[in-house]
Amino acid sequence: MKATWCDSLASGNETIDSQHKELFEHMNAFFDNITHTHNHETTVRTLNFLVKYVRYHFGTEEELMRESEYPHFKEHLNAHRIIVDKLMECYKDLIRSGNTEVITEELGVLLQKWFVEHIMDNDIKLAEHLKNNA
Ligand SMILES: [Fe+2]
Repeated sequence: MKATWCDSLASGNETIDSQHKELFEHMNAFFDNITHTHNHETTVRTLNFLVKYVRYHFGTEEELMRESEYPHFKEHLNAHRIIVDKLMECYKDLIRSGNTEVITEELGVLLQKWFVEHIMDNDIKLAEHLKNNA
C-alpha cells in the first residue's frame, strides 16, 4: 500500500501543498510499517505521529481560512473534525484491541480515501480562494 502524490492533488498554494506532501510521507511511513514490519508498537507510534501531523496541518489551513475570511470555513472545519474523530477512533481501537492487522488494513484504505477526497473536495477550493484574496 502506498499513497501516491500526483499533480491533480496540487492546489497551487505552496504552504498547503508542501504540508500535503509531508502528510503523504507520514502516511507512507505508516503503510510501510503495516506492510512490512507488522510491529504493534511501531504501528502505534507511526499512527500517533500521523495524527499529530494531521492536527498541525489542519490547524494551518484553519488559520489561513480565518485570516482570509473564507466563506466555506464552517463546512471545511467540519470536514477536518470528521477526519480527526475517525482517526482517533481507529487509534483508540488499535491500542485497545492490539489487533494490528485488521485495524491497520482498514485504516490504510480509509486514510488514502479521506485525504484524496478531502484535498479534491475542500482544499483545492480553499487554495483558489486564497489566491483570489491574496
Ligand atoms: Fe483541509
